[in-house]
Amino acid sequence: MRALKFLFLEDSPTDLELIQRELKKGGVEYIPLHAQDKEEYVKAIVEEKPDFIFSDFSLPNFDGLSALSLAKEKCPTTPFIFVSGTYGEDAAIQTLTRGATDYVLKDRLVKLVPALKRAIKEMEEHNALRRAEAEKYEIEEQLRQSQKVEAMGFLAGAMAHEINNPIMAIIDYAQMISKGDLDASKIQKISSKIKQEGERISEMVKDLLRFARQEKGVYEPVSVFNLIKKTRAITEQRLKMSLIQMDLSIDPALPFVLCKEGQILQVLLNLTNNAIDALNQRYPAFNEDKRISISAKREEIAGKGWVRIAIEDFGSGIPPEVGKSIFNTFFTTKGAEKGTGLGLSVSLGIVKEHGGFLSFESALNEYTRFFLDLPAV
Ligand SMILES: Nc1ncnc2c1ncn2[C@@H]1O[C@H](COP(=O)(O)OP(=O)(O)OP(=O)(O)O)[C@@H](O)[C@H]1O
Ligand SMILES: [Mg+2]
Repeated sequence: MRALKFLFLEDSPTDLELIQRELKKGGVEYIPLHAQDKEEYVKAIVEEKPDFIFSDFSLPNFDGLSALSLAKEKCPTTPFIFVSGTYGEDAAIQTLTRGATDYVLKDRLVKLVPALKRAIKEMEEHNALRRAEAEKYEIEEQLRQSQKVEAMGFLAGAMAHEINNPIMAIIDYAQMISKGDLDASKIQKISSKIKQEGERISEMVKDLLRFARQEKGVYEPVSVFNLIKKTRAITEQRLKMSLIQMDLSIDPALPFVLCKEGQILQVLLNLTNNAIDALNQRYPAFNEDKRISISAKREEIAGKGWVRIAIEDFGSGIPPEVGKSIFNTFFTTKGAEKGTGLGLSVSLGIVKEHGGFLSFESALNEYTRFFLDLPAV
């Protein structure tokens, strides 16, 4: 471990010596920095970034409380210990409420090293906690990424299928032109169609790239209507193959939501795919009730606007004992090769980060309804 830098704000050379002698007696090793007034003090905390500050309470033209506020402003995590004369005891105690780490009286300097050790221990605990939090975030981020890659594969598959139509059209148009028996105005018309189809493809590719790139993403006002339409377009192929109907009921006056579009799309895709799975489980073949409805409406709760998106299926339903676990990471009832159990846990993480809520209600072999609530713009 590198040696810690201690900054002493102290105008009396005698007191400074007593303090440093006490530290030496306690076997504490450090690099000493010394300030006697405000100017030296500010320079030291800004340029030297000390690991600890020991401050006298009253100084000529400066005072310990101002030193404390400055420290809280410029280096809020650096422990700050008052070393004060007895006359300042009451005030010194009060400083604890202002964020001082501890105080030691100059005539009880034996308490200095224990106070320092306590502060070091606290600092280490705090750092360990921060590291653990950072690691947790890192792991969650990895899960989110791996789930996104999966969603992207799916998206790419759906898109390849979608892109095929305009490409076929473009090939047909090109063949018509290459025959060479069309007049100029006809060629004009056809080439503008080619342009249109090309633009459609370009839009789709841009969408996929945006989704792929959306690592951190940005919050933007997004139309829920468009998001739901995208969800339907992407899942269309799966819906068709499973003979599932999807109906949408979206309030035309729906407000926008502030969100990372790719992430909320990911949530909607997870919920829709789960609904498809549940329907296929209940009805392996065609059935009139094999349907999903997605609705979106505005709600007002405690004076604030929300958008509630409901995704409802009439599939297998969720048994109450399963319901307790569905948001857990890696929880799946679909078997290892079919489900990873990441869909809902990743979705919940995303929704929480957006300041929203994800909840559900279900009756076994009747229905499941997932509610996604997001703050309206
Ligand atoms: N609409 C639904 N109807 C019935 N059960 C559901 C529904 N949505 C989720 N579940 C249950 O919750 C579990 C967890 O869902 P989650 O989306 O997290 O994982 P998964 O779908 O099993 O796997 P994947 O990681 O591929 O999404 C599912 O295995 C299923 O048992
Ligand atoms: Mg799922």
